[in-house]
Parts: sequence; C-alpha cells; structure tokens
Amino acid sequence: MTLVVGATGKTGKLLVEQLLERGQYVKAIVRSSEKMPKSIRNHPSLSIIEAGILELTDNDITEYVKGCSTVASCLGHSLSLKGIFGRPRRLVTDATRRLCDAIKANPSEQPSKFVLMNTTGNRNRDLDEPISFAQRCVIGLLRGCLPPHADNEDAANYLRMEIGQNDKTIEWVAVRPDGLIDLDTVTEYELHASPTRSAIFDAGKTSRINVGHFMADLIADPKVWLEWKGRMPVIYNKA
Ligand SMILES: NC(=O)c1ccc[n+]([C@@H]2O[C@H](COP(=O)([O-])OP(=O)(O)OC[C@H]3O[C@@H](n4cnc5c(N)ncnc54)[C@H](OP(=O)(O)O)[C@@H]3O)[C@@H](O)[C@H]2O)c1
Repeated sequence: MTLVVGATGKTGKLLVEQLLERGQYVKAIVRSSEKMPKSIRNHPSLSIIEAGILELTDNDITEYVKGCSTVASCLGHSLSLKGIFGRPRRLVTDATRRLCDAIKANPSEQPSKFVLMNTTGNRNRDLDEPISFAQRCVIGLLRGCLPPHADNEDAANYLRMEIGQNDKTIEWVAVRPDGLIDLDTVTEYELHASPTRSAIFDAGKTSRINVGHFMADLIADPKVWLEWKGRMPVIYNKA
C-alpha cells in the first residue's frame, strides 16, 4: 500500500493512476476528493482521506501511515500569489518531516520507502554537481525571494541529511524533473544521477506523466528502487 500526498495535483493524479494500473493499493490524503479524476475516484484499490496534510495531528498521520510500505509526495505550492508567498511556506518540508516521523513511530520489519517529487533547481550536495557562477546567483535569488524554492530544497535536504543513507526505518529517493509539461501518454525518458544541463539557462522538458511513471516504477519494482535509493535522480524526456 502506498500513501500519496499531493494526489490531486497535476503529477499526483498521474502517479495514482500509474500505481492503480500496476495493481497497487493506494491511500490518498487530499483536501478535496472532488479533485480526483472521476475515472479512479471509486477504484476498489484506492482509499481517499479528505484532509489537509498539515492540519492533521501527529496521531492521525501515524494512523494513516500504518500499513503503508511507501509514502510518496507530489505536493507543491499553487502558482498563485497566495500559494507562492502565503502560508504554509514550508508545506513540502513539514509534510515530509511529519510523514517520516509517522513512519518512525510505526517501524515495520522492512524499511519503508519515501519518494519525494523535487526539482532540478535543487542540487544534490552529496555529489559534486558543479553549477556556473551565474546559475548560483539566480538560484540564490530564487531561494531568497521564492519560498517554494527554499521549501523544495529543504525537503530534499531533510531526507539527505537527517534521514541519510543508513536509516533502519526509511529509505528515500528525491526525483528531480526539469521544466514540467503535460503529455497524454508515457514517452521515452532518460534518468541521470545529476543534471546534464542548466536548470536555469538551458532547461529541458519532463512530462508529468513520465514523472508519475518513474515514481511508480520506484515503488513497484525493487530493482529500480535498489538502483536509486538514497539518490536524487534527474529525469528528462528523450528529445
Ligand atoms: N513547474 C515546473 O516546471 C517544476 C519543475 C520541477 C519540479 N516542480 C515541482 O513539482 C511539484 C509538483 O508539481 P505539480 O505541477 O504536479 O503540482 P500541482 O499540480 O500544483 O499540485 C500540487 C499539489 O499539492 C497540494 N497542495 C498545495 N497546497 C497545499 C496545502 N496547503 N495543503 C495540502 N496540499 C496542498 C495540491 O492540493 P489541491 O489540489 O488541494 O490544491 C496538489 O495536490 C512542485 O513541488 C513543484 O515545485 C515543478
């Protein structure tokens, strides 16, 4: 069973669809179930909990996480003035931290998986990911001026530094798409350990359906998980 947060988002919906197509059970915490596609809303393998993830108590989150071998987050701030500059400013980081605390409160025999949708605008500081001085300046500005960017960085940093590589209860992957686009079907895509182009000056394209497909692969295919756990794979559509 996978618990998905951000399941009503443009990518989250596609991830839920991909998981259901693979015969997986899904629990989704959403603010409004009306926003889930009609085609899957009543799917027998999908249970929907109507709540804002940050409004739940720690006990509620622990109960919802119980029995889930994976937690996946496709949370993101809405692209409105209120979504970008209003509260909650640390939506993704706080949800990641609280969900991980809930996993730790109920440890299972096998480590649980946490899959975070992140961004190529964020560097994996475990690796030597060189960026130009100009890109460093722009990212620094984004970090200072756009709370959602700092939130995405902090969420991945929490997994990288506070959960780390040797946690007995949680293994994680932070998936980094480039410029998101919408396509109807899964197409060929490339995965890299680090960006191969500049996220600011030469951004590539990644379709949300390919992100959902790769996240579902990570969750459903142990070989894919083994390859990427503890890493921050970058995903680009093949040209
Ligand atoms: N735009 C790009 O090119 C790009 C590139 C790489 C990475 N990203 C990152 O990818 C992520 C997802 O992108 P997307 O386009 O799929 O996002 P999206 O369609 O905006 O979906 C965001 C999800 O987060 C939920 N959400 C927002 N505020 C919330 C709150 N206060 N409490 C609970 N849930 C909340 C939304 O719920 P509701 O439906 O209830 O609003 C929705 O389910 C974002 O973190 C974004 O930064 C974006």
